Amino acid sequence: MGSVNIDWKNLRFEYIKTDYRYVSRYKDGSWDEGKLVEDNKLCISEASTALHYGQQCFEGLKAYHTKEGKIQLFRPDENAKRMNKSLKRLLMPEIPEEKFIDACMQVVKANEEYVPPYGSGATLYLRPFAIGVGDNVGVKPAPEYLFCVFCVPVGPYFKGGLKPVNFTVAEHDRAAPKGTGGVKVGGNYAASLLPHEIAVEKGYADCIYLDPSTHTKIEEVGAANFFGITKDDKFITPKSESILPSITKYSLMHVAKEYLGMEVEERDVYIDKLDEFKEAGACGTAAVITPIGGIEYNGDFHVFYSEEEVGPVTRKLYDTLTGIQFGDVEAPKGWIKEVK
Ligand SMILES: Cc1ncc(COP(=O)(O)O)c(C=O)c1O
Repeated sequence: MGSVNIDWKNLRFEYIKTDYRYVSRYKDGSWDEGKLVEDNKLCISEASTALHYGQQCFEGLKAYHTKEGKIQLFRPDENAKRMNKSLKRLLMPEIPEEKFIDACMQVVKANEEYVPPYGSGATLYLRPFAIGVGDNVGVKPAPEYLFCVFCVPVGPYFKGGLKPVNFTVAEHDRAAPKGTGGVKVGGNYAASLLPHEIAVEKGYADCIYLDPSTHTKIEEVGAANFFGITKDDKFITPKSESILPSITKYSLMHVAKEYLGMEVEERDVYIDKLDEFKEAGACGTAAVITPIGGIEYNGDFHVFYSEEEVGPVTRKLYDTLTGIQFGDVEAPKGWIKEVK
């Protein structure tokens, strides 16, 4: 590996300034070509809509070093599509899928030395984002936009291997029934800071959000999607417009069905019917899978498989998907984009 001096084994999920980032500006109806820059500061108008009205959205994906030393991105086209849904919802200009993927490729290539080596468990996390900028005071879309991508090497979420954690149920909602829960916009995360802190103060890793209309069904687990494995080995995950469609979740559904021969189903998951599951987990790019030990709800604590050990189905799902991401297991067609 190159000259950067990083202790790969002890990386956490924290910001480290890497050498290059990508910036493209939208002005007068079109995106410019975009370029790599060294400066990690943005200079924007104090009247930018991103600062006042939350006109911003983002994505998160990873680059992986394979055993053979190749660098690959996992399903960046899916992140591009989801980013465009977020942009559309906030009246921001869409970004052509090829431009989004090219920006990610350029950033990984330019920061190649920061892609953690195969076997360290660490990865290069990419954070594409778009913000409304320019002088604007009224509540209306911005006159100009920035699309940027930066990257950070991050450690494996669980240092000592997969470990179950416990969750409580939030009293707050993260999203409204027909609001912005289904897209990746900053406002959803601002709304989640307080319930997260309350959950941590109560001794839990994070909180579970129920559906904002009836508060009877599971929607999200912190900033991740929920899945449960039924006693007859079905992979079940909630379906709702206010859940962010997790790329990891849809990838796990494919793995469950096509690699492990399981039945998969998206449907309502009731918070008072947790005993239909023998295992449960949260899934997302950061950790891939966080096994759920137990869930606290209205004073009761429901344990799934175990508070200490990961269940066998969850383990198989995790091993297969991470195997695909690191190039050890053959990927479905189109899932992997090599960075050359
Ligand atoms: C609210 C929320 N739900 C779910 C996810 C998981 O999505 P993905 O698997 O695409 O990372 C994320 C992370 O992006 C998230 O922020």
